[in-house]
Amino acid sequence: MRLVSVNSLQAGVCLAKPVYNEQGSTLISRGIPLTARMIERLDSLGISYVYIEDGRIEHIGIYDSISEKLRREAISFIKSSFNRIVNESKQQQSFLLEKSMKEVVSLVRNFIGELKHNENVLNLLTDIYIYDDYVYSHSINVTMYALALGMELKLSDNDLETIGIGALLHDVGKVSVPLDILDKPGKLTAEEFEEVKKHPEYGYELLRKVPTLSLLVAHCAYQHHERLDGSGYPRGLKGNQIHLFGKILAIADVYDAVTSHRVYRKAMLPHEGLEILYAGAGTLFDKQMVESFRRAVAVYPVGLGVVLSDGRKGVVSRQNQEMSDRPHVMILEHSNGEKLKTSYEIDLMKELHIVITECDTAVI
Ligand SMILES: [Fe+2]
Repeated sequence: MRLVSVNSLQAGVCLAKPVYNEQGSTLISRGIPLTARMIERLDSLGISYVYIEDGRIEHIGIYDSISEKLRREAISFIKSSFNRIVNESKQQQSFLLEKSMKEVVSLVRNFIGELKHNENVLNLLTDIYIYDDYVYSHSINVTMYALALGMELKLSDNDLETIGIGALLHDVGKVSVPLDILDKPGKLTAEEFEEVKKHPEYGYELLRKVPTLSLLVAHCAYQHHERLDGSGYPRGLKGNQIHLFGKILAIADVYDAVTSHRVYRKAMLPHEGLEILYAGAGTLFDKQMVESFRRAVAVYPVGLGVVLSDGRKGVVSRQNQEMSDRPHVMILEHSNGEKLKTSYEIDLMKELHIVITECDTAVI
């Protein structure tokens, strides 16, 4: 299968991975030839990339970094807990969260277990879900990225658990921000943005009153929008005033925001998302942490079409755990543009003189 942009899809190609709604029902199945209307629908749902079938590279396997089962459990948990507290008094909100703490801890432990077991760099999310509300899937993705970065930084299991809970609940303060502002598709007014900027503090106030939670979890919510140079919010903390977990969450939060499918803007590919982080490395984000994060994610996900520095073209076929930016590539085209009858694989970790110069997400 192959990762291609929805813009380049033409009627007749088949999805290799289905598209689901948030209940897990299939919106568009795999294996059925797409019609022009289905392609339009994908576009209107805000999906930028999909996996399609490609007979030449059928055997390339794509794994998910966390199981579909855990993902669904986590989504339904986040959704029900956020919905349960949305109209409650502040005191009642903390009380209700306290009651679901056992479930939070068990979810986070399952995340850690699956990610440790996987031992692979984090692939781009292969299952595409369409959610009515972005905040739920965002919370799950941020948890996954924060834990992967935490593991790369060799945090203790205890710390991983704390940051996992903090990540899962980092945006809980959004329950106190009016829905019409949160769901507004276009640009926010200055006033509306001021309102959104209160969610870290709302989250902190709520979480610090949950007795069984470490105060550090509350600080994860409080600090995830702070930036190294003091340009973040709500307090404009600088450098070491920001806790390690706050710095990790800032990276996980921004990376997911730019690489997610959203109706109002195109999702970036991993290497583009990483460029955003690199552009802020040392000023907005901790430089070493950005470097560690790059090692934890698949910079060029399996199924992505690439052009090599010697002119050959192919598709990423396997990751190298030691070097997330030098995967295996299945070569499909000679440097002179001639299509190969029999494809072959090269390992970019062994051929260091060759680099990926371009990514190609058009259907070929
Ligand atoms: Fe946030």
